Amino acid sequence: MSLASDARFWDRSSRKYARGAIADQAGYERTLQRTRALLGPGDRVLELGCGTGTTALVLASGVQSYLATDISAGMIAIAEEKHAAAPAPSLVFRIATAEALLPDAAKFNAVLGFNYLHLVRDLPGTLRRVHALLAAEGLLISKTPCVGEMNPLIRLALPVMRALGLAPHAGVFRVSALTRQISAAGFEILAVENHATKGDDNRPYIVARKT
Ligand SMILES: C[S@@+](CC[C@H](N)C(=O)[O-])C[C@H]1O[C@@H](n2cnc3c(N)ncnc32)[C@H](O)[C@@H]1O
Repeated sequence: MSLASDARFWDRSSRKYARGAIADQAGYERTLQRTRALLGPGDRVLELGCGTGTTALVLASGVQSYLATDISAGMIAIAEEKHAAAPAPSLVFRIATAEALLPDAAKFNAVLGFNYLHLVRDLPGTLRRVHALLAAEGLLISKTPCVGEMNPLIRLALPVMRALGLAPHAGVFRVSALTRQISAAGFEILAVENHATKGDDNRPYIVARKT
């Protein structure tokens, strides 16, 4: 299994993903509102694993520039269709992973990853790359499933579903392990919040600042 097979999984899933409803709309709105409040009009923002661009299309209008990236060409194609229907001048979509983006002089003030960090294959490496892509005191903002907090049956089923091509690669970690890894990559954790308005919340909203 490789990055290429991850991209293929998400390509295959992209149209279905685009049709799916947001499971907890109120919780999502809370995340958008909180994130908007953390971003300013002069900010350069990078989103990783942007999917079909729903969040990017909402947040881009409030910042100077917004680069929304995803490993899947299928996801980015749908995002581009939505962008063409509702143009946002500060927004650019690109097929890319964090690892493929080179840190340069014009660094990002914020890196966002929603439902993303549990999908990367080398979490410590990705977090170090995010750190390198950020300007001094830049923010990492993440909300991602912590599979280690979920019902053990889900953890047992995951490898079977993966083998059948029905689930993507997913890291299994608890909230405490995720925050520890973020700190170890050179961040100060500013907030760990729960935004869900129904059911168990295994997707902590985390704000961390580059130190
Ligand atoms: C569950 S979807 C989330 C999409 C969007 N952020 C959202 O919250 O609706 C995960 C997305 O991450 C992308 N992805 C998976 N692994 C990735 C990686 N290593 N680098 C970049 N994107 C990745 C997938 O293609 C997919 O679009």
